Amino acid sequence: MTSDAVPQRATIVACPDGPILVRGDVAIVDDDGVPIPRRRSTVALCRCGASAIKPYCDGTHKAIDFRAP
Ligand code: FES
Repeated sequence: MTSDAVPQRATIVACPDGPILVRGDVAIVDDDGVPIPRRRSTVALCRCGASAIKPYCDGTHKAIDFRAP
């Protein structure tokens, strides 16, 4: 398996002071159930609320000093 291969089982990890990492075969949809394009097997979802590319993290959490252990 390559590092970008989709694992059999999905995992979700809340990174300290950062995004939620989603790995594996999980559909990401908007509030109407419409799939949101996903190009990688691992994606980072924003949980600070400041990303300009929600639902994905764009790294802004670092600039706003987001804290969430
Ligand atoms: S968690 Fe990274 S921009 Fe919000």
